[in-house]
Amino acid sequence: MKFISFGKEKTQVSQIILGMMRTSEMTTKNVADLVKASLDCGINFLDTADCYGLGKAESVLGEVFAQNAELRQKVFLQSKCGIRVDSDFTWYDLSKEHIVNAVNASLSRLKTDHLDSLLLHRPDALMEPAEIAQAFEILHREGKVLNFGVSNMNPFQMEMLRTELPFEIVADQVQLSCAFTPMIQAGVNVNLANDAAVMRDGGILNYCQLHQIAVQSWSSLQFGFFEGTFLGSEKFPQLNAVLNRIAEEKKTTAAAVAIAWILRYPAKMQTVVGTTKIKRLAEIAQATEINLSKKEWYEIYLSVGNTLP
Ligand SMILES: NC(=O)c1ccc[n+]([C@@H]2O[C@H](COP(=O)([O-])OP(=O)(O)OC[C@H]3O[C@@H](n4cnc5c(N)ncnc54)[C@H](OP(=O)(O)O)[C@@H]3O)[C@@H](O)[C@H]2O)c1
Repeated sequence: MKFISFGKEKTQVSQIILGMMRTSEMTTKNVADLVKASLDCGINFLDTADCYGLGKAESVLGEVFAQNAELRQKVFLQSKCGIRVDSDFTWYDLSKEHIVNAVNASLSRLKTDHLDSLLLHRPDALMEPAEIAQAFEILHREGKVLNFGVSNMNPFQMEMLRTELPFEIVADQVQLSCAFTPMIQAGVNVNLANDAAVMRDGGILNYCQLHQIAVQSWSSLQFGFFEGTFLGSEKFPQLNAVLNRIAEEKKTTAAAVAIAWILRYPAKMQTVVGTTKIKRLAEIAQATEINLSKKEWYEIYLSVGNTLP
């Protein structure tokens, strides 16, 4: 496992993060086993959110910490807030009051006194940087959150927040995989009159590289918006052929190569993996040891139908 230095204290955290979005229906024992297996593979970073399973994912993890006191000390714990769900209506809320209340509720469910990192889950169209800054100051002063970051935000939104925030933005969590590459396409096709040149994200990867903000990829093995994994999918024959060939050459698995493709990007990269299966963790963890050449990286990029000018 390879590690990066993360946040104010430059904590050594694993490049692979265990994502807890799909764990809300699992038993406490199964989640405990998954977290322990992650640690065995060197994965010491957990990512959850208050809205996963409407709080259930955090509650199950809280039970795991209650029953295995040593585990909380061993992991770097990140949660997210800002997506509100009220019966069947969902909206985004990054008001001071909601951020503070949401973190207090997360801490209570997680049965811990602090989060190592808090991300603002999605941009709230009505967000006001000064209010967010006040919430962060309160949570930091009370020792409830040590580091602050964002998720699904573009550089302009981060710039706007930075005018008021008392702390550096430590991470931006964004969707990226071999089969979901809009952030990379726009950079490769600058100023061309084709669809791939459309800049949808405002240059997140370059911005994060410039400011040493960790990029945390989500749905790293999926295509579309939660349409499924591309691994073994009939929709991606060429991608699977290239991943399998490189995996065979490097004596590893296609999943590990697909994750290595993300980590090859020269910013401070992390990838959040959402598997619920212990057997898959060890193979995914191999990804940080794989060195893809530029040629291999481009072969994978082009195998999903991307083109070069
Ligand atoms: N910030 C955001 O807006 C946002 C959005 C979505 C997710 N996230 C975070 O990102 C994490 C990961 O997202 P994700 O779950 O969509 O990512 P993922 O790792 O791409 O997907 C995991 C899913 O793929 C399945 N899968 C099938 N074959 C697999 C293989 N060979 N290796 C590994 N998994 C395989 C897994 O099934 P098995 O369980 O059977 O292995 C699981 O259902 C989430 O847990 C969450 O923490 C953040």
